[in-house]
Amino acid sequence: MSKLIELKSPAELETLRESARLASTVLSRVASLLDDGLATYDLEIAARREIEALGASPAFLGYRGYPAALCVSLNDELVHGIPSRKRKIRAGDIVTLDLGVIHRGFFGDVAATFPVGKVSAAAQRLIKAGKDSFAPAIIENLRAGKRLGDLSGALERHIISRGFSVVRDYVGHGIGRRLHEEPAIPNFGERGLGPILKEGMVLAVEPMMCEGSSALNLDADGWTARTSDGKLSCHFEHMIIVGAAPEIITFWGDKI
Ligand code: MF3
Ligand code: CO
Repeated sequence: MSKLIELKSPAELETLRESARLASTVLSRVASLLDDGLATYDLEIAARREIEALGASPAFLGYRGYPAALCVSLNDELVHGIPSRKRKIRAGDIVTLDLGVIHRGFFGDVAATFPVGKVSAAAQRLIKAGKDSFAPAIIENLRAGKRLGDLSGALERHIISRGFSVVRDYVGHGIGRRLHEEPAIPNFGERGLGPILKEGMVLAVEPMMCEGSSALNLDADGWTARTSDGKLSCHFEHMIIVGAAPEIITFWGDKI
């Protein structure tokens, strides 16, 4: 028995497009501030200000006890870095921003890894592989009638073909009136398996990959997940509507 994947009505899809646009607007404004010497908490303050300015609410603040509106994960940190006044960003870092909003009862959720100043060739390759996870040939698998494993398998093959490792501990998800809905969307899988995708599903696809091993450790703060080997990782997230063609409804701005 597979679990229920909600189909959104045209009116619900319209609101989700707005939520996605609001989250993306905040993400790209915060990303435009990224600079050497900035504390990660400075970005948190900016995120809250921009969310409020757009009339939306932060989705992550208080979610399962998460203490901020924004996740800021540096270099070996993969996800859920908690903004801190003491943590400074430096030129050469790669920084993942992950941001969620609630707007008219619907969630927007978006993430991307940005370079700060000049980063290493290896970091550039990693970021490019992350972005390229949304190439047309891959998200083509989000057409109605495809199976979830078609997408997951394509993502896995893409990540491996670039020489990176696939994160198995965190996955993407359906999204709507709840931040995390069915289905869970792994970045690995097998073509032809899993639920059939239908028009009106809205999926938050979250490719996550590592330079070295994909084994992760959780910090003592209970949130920050980082690579065990200390090598780089990246994380990108788009919300996509399944239809006759896939429709990407989030964006990351021009800082990547
Ligand atoms: N984009 C992440 C997700 O979809 C963000 C969750 S952070 C949390 O799971 F703070 F809300 F948990
Ligand atoms: Co998400």
